[in-house]
Amino acid sequence: MGVAVDIGSFRAAMARFPGAVTIVTACTAEGERRGITATAVCSVSAEPPSLLVCLNRKTGTCAAVRETGRFNVSLLTEGAAAVALQFAGMGGATGAAKFDTGDWQADARGLPLLAGAVVQFSCDVAEVTDAGSHTVFIGHIVNLASAEAPALVYEQARFHRLLPL
Ligand SMILES: Cc1cc2nc3c(=O)[nH]c(=O)nc-3n(C[C@H](O)[C@H](O)[C@H](O)COP(=O)(O)O)c2cc1C
Repeated sequence: MGVAVDIGSFRAAMARFPGAVTIVTACTAEGERRGITATAVCSVSAEPPSLLVCLNRKTGTCAAVRETGRFNVSLLTEGAAAVALQFAGMGGATGAAKFDTGDWQADARGLPLLAGAVVQFSCDVAEVTDAGSHTVFIGHIVNLASAEAPALVYEQARFHRLLPL
């Protein structure tokens, strides 16, 4: 027996979870870049090193990850809110045009990574699970790089910077 939970209550509750802001990127089979802003990114296991991302199935990024079995994650610095807005579609850009904002480079596989990101992960898809409107991809981390910079945080529909207690 389930308890009815309306979408508004769910969204309001989840908005209180502070999330580290990332850009999940991929390339289509034709090599076109795709990317979305994502906070649904989580550590899964250290052995093997793996993480998960939850991507809306309507997005081109989700389709590209499913199609090619590869994705990257760039964790944004606190100064990169403009990149987060662009990849959330708020600047009006779609598809490969989103990459006009930010300093984008390619990893060894040719997939986009944000230069100067706090952490850059390159992942191979290990497991795929459809869950409602989203697809959960567990990725094995095949390469990573990290920098000494504070991450950008999102909570209650606003960006925040981290402050130690
Ligand atoms: C802070 C923030 C976090 C987001 N997190 C996710 C996420 O984890 N997964 C997801 O599918 N969409 C997430 N979104 C929404 C997508 O970024 C947005 O729907 C996407 O950019 C739309 O891409 P499109 O215009 O290319 O379809 C988030 C948006 C914002 C602003």
